Amino acid sequence: MHPPLLNVADYARAARAKLPKEVYDYYEGGALDEITLRENTAGWEGLKLYYRVLAGVGAREMKTTMLGQSISMPIAVAPTAFHKLACAEGEIATARAAKAARTLFILSSLSNTAMEPALAEAASPRWFQLYIYKDRGITADLVKRAEAAGAEAIVLTVDAPGLGTRERDMRNRFTLPEGLCVENLSPLGKGRMPEVRGSGLAAYVRDNFKSDLSFEDLDWLCGCSRLPIVVKGVCRSDDGRRVAEHGAKAIVVSNHGGRQLDTAPATCEVLPHIVEAVDDRCEIYVDGGIRRGSDALKAIALGARAVLVGRPILWGLTVAGQEGVLSVLEILRRELDEAMLLCGSTNLKEINRSLLSP
Ligand code: FNR
Ligand code: LAC
Repeated sequence: MHPPLLNVADYARAARAKLPKEVYDYYEGGALDEITLRENTAGWEGLKLYYRVLAGVGAREMKTTMLGQSISMPIAVAPTAFHKLACAEGEIATARAAKAARTLFILSSLSNTAMEPALAEAASPRWFQLYIYKDRGITADLVKRAEAAGAEAIVLTVDAPGLGTRERDMRNRFTLPEGLCVENLSPLGKGRMPEVRGSGLAAYVRDNFKSDLSFEDLDWLCGCSRLPIVVKGVCRSDDGRRVAEHGAKAIVVSNHGGRQLDTAPATCEVLPHIVEAVDDRCEIYVDGGIRRGSDALKAIALGARAVLVGRPILWGLTVAGQEGVLSVLEILRRELDEAMLLCGSTNLKEINRSLLSP
């Protein structure tokens, strides 16, 4: 008998035991000294909850919306690459689990399943995460296909004009194994990840992603798609304001889970400043280091509308495919519900910054 998996950390341990080292390292790792990676989680852990008593909390309500689309809880699936490294069903399993949890699924550009079948398995809301390729024709093709495949927003990731150096991946010479590819790009001739001396993914990004990304690219994308554009990877208030002025309908405050620029600040540190600067011009979500439902509550207290989770989904997927992802999402839901009860919050509107200070 295996001991029950009670929390995200249990899933992480079980996934580590199951995965080949190079895959575990790719999923878990961060850039350089992994300082931002650690501080993302430590940041949420360090915030103290000044709970309210005698608040008469009965049944809690955590339904909300992202860009007007209903979700059952303010916890959604972040876009992460290469789900078939976790289990054979890959992104199909993740999409089905998000659907079962009635929350948002964001499909990565770098999926091992083509967007058409993957998005078909997800219910609304389902969004597509976009990397801008050097070749505008390729990028435009991805956007058009995502629209046709039922994506309801495009999440433009702006914190990866190049890949942050991940030394674990260099040591392991990380690349996709035989039989797996960047499925969405296969028809466009960019599906293969090279085998090189260092990280194959870093080489792929160097060869293919547009490194001189600018506001002009955001303008181009806003003009090229009828879908709302969400900008992911913002760390500063001036950028947040400017992104909103350029037409983004939502922002994800993110440092890519500590995988890009090491020593970037933890997302919990920058979130309140961005919320203040953007001032309701667009919706704001946050990710990075959310490992407990109480972390989600703290993010909401700091002004986020919802949180995304990356690695915990991959741990669930590794351990038990679709059921594992669903279990992880239900654990986070249960923990958020308990945190709301014990904080004296009946609904999400009542969760505000007063819970974080005496
Ligand atoms: C990511 N992330 C990511 N982001 C993105 O926009 N496109 C992508 O393809 C990927 N791929 C990816 C792979 C892996 C293995 C990880 C761990 C992360 C970043 C992701 O969307 C999110 O920002 C972070 O994962 C959030 O941090 P946590 O929840 O993993 O701590
Ligand atoms: C990563 C890229 C692919 O973080 O987004 O691995």
